[in-house]
Amino acid sequence: MDKIIVEGGRTLSGVIAISGAKNAALPILISSLLTDGLNTYNNVPDLKDIHSTCVLLQNQGAHVEMNGDCVTIDAGDLHNPEAPYDLVRKMRASILVLGPLVARLKKARVSLPGGCAIGARPINLHLKGLASLGAKIELQHGYVEAKADRLTGADIFFDTVTVTGTENLMMAAALADGVTVLRNAAREPEVVALADVLNQMGADIQGAGTSVITITGVSSLHPVSVSIIPDRIEAGTFMVAAALTHGNITLTHCEPGHMQALIEKLRLAGAVIKISDKSVQVIGPERIASVDIKTLPYPGFPTDMQAQFMVLMSVASGLSIISETIFENRFIHVSELQRMGADITISGNAAVIKGMPYLSGAPVMASDLRASASLILAGLVAQGQTEVHRVYHLDRGYEAMEKKFEKLGASVLRVKD
Ligand code: EPU
Repeated sequence: MDKIIVEGGRTLSGVIAISGAKNAALPILISSLLTDGLNTYNNVPDLKDIHSTCVLLQNQGAHVEMNGDCVTIDAGDLHNPEAPYDLVRKMRASILVLGPLVARLKKARVSLPGGCAIGARPINLHLKGLASLGAKIELQHGYVEAKADRLTGADIFFDTVTVTGTENLMMAAALADGVTVLRNAAREPEVVALADVLNQMGADIQGAGTSVITITGVSSLHPVSVSIIPDRIEAGTFMVAAALTHGNITLTHCEPGHMQALIEKLRLAGAVIKISDKSVQVIGPERIASVDIKTLPYPGFPTDMQAQFMVLMSVASGLSIISETIFENRFIHVSELQRMGADITISGNAAVIKGMPYLSGAPVMASDLRASASLILAGLVAQGQTEVHRVYHLDRGYEAMEKKFEKLGASVLRVKD
């Protein structure tokens, strides 16, 4: 297993290009199951989760080819309604095949994904929504079994905002009879990106990006050739790196409009941020100011940036409070940051962070994707060497991260454990 060794204390500067967004690519690749013919996707990031998705789609009968950042998928021969435990357990987003499989094959048998390090992450809202569309749902032997001769449009209210839940139902409803209205829908840019792709396939989806999405079902969808939107969380992670190291980093190929909550908080922390069309320059402050944050569904502050922002607050000039309202167990990185000298106290869903003059390098263990990124960021401002173990989490969601850091002048080295 690989580990990453970070030598702290360097000021990062330079220009890097942001990759395609993992959380947009996953549902978009899966939406190919709704079509019969060859789909082409560009700007697909080279990540473990993308490879897992391609294997899953092949398992369902799709023909998949990967060539650099281009993935082609032809689901003309879609025939297997079963997504087995071994494939689904590797990646929770696999549950996104449920809607398309029922819509196209009239049935699906998909392993329940189970909990993960950051929380229980139930899928009750996916299932309730599909049942409202007329699917008969049963839970048997750890699998969701869904059947529907024909899905029928319905009015669906989410009592919690769910990103993949909104995406799953949008895909199922695209091929249903009649009109579906999703209320309290997720407004994330990745949801909008999926809706755009479905519309290019011939779907009729209005309102994506607002909390009410209206889908008028059509009888079939056709293949598309599309490009994946930039990864706002990868971009945000490098923006925090600039702020942390008093650096000067320019990100290209990004979408500043998707990162307003983070930009606002980084400015309050003292960073200078210059925005142009598809690029952002972040100049870190001499002294980082303490800022409170509360994670919220988009357009609020993203939970996927909480761990990284906490590292910034660990070396800020005062006290800050970070409240995590999306996942019930997303503070696992705290104990590792404490081992590096961070002064953090957790009380319920809030963490109180007293900024320290510096952190100190230590061996640490990554527990999930964003926690891994936060530990590397912590290593950048720690005195001495930080060893981050279990970095396979990182490979699920950050393309060539250590190479990008290296380009910015950091010492971030991957070695075999
Ligand atoms: N929830 C339910 N019932 C459901 C679905 C969700 O109670 O049926 C709850 C969850 O337990 C959670 C909240 O709703 O408390 C929000 O969860 P959501 O469903 O929005 O999360 P997700 O769709 O499983 C996506 C991203 C996550 C990101 C969250 C929140 C993908 C593939 N994953 O997950 O990304 O943290 O939205 O923004 O899009 C990551 O990239 O590191 C990551 C975890």
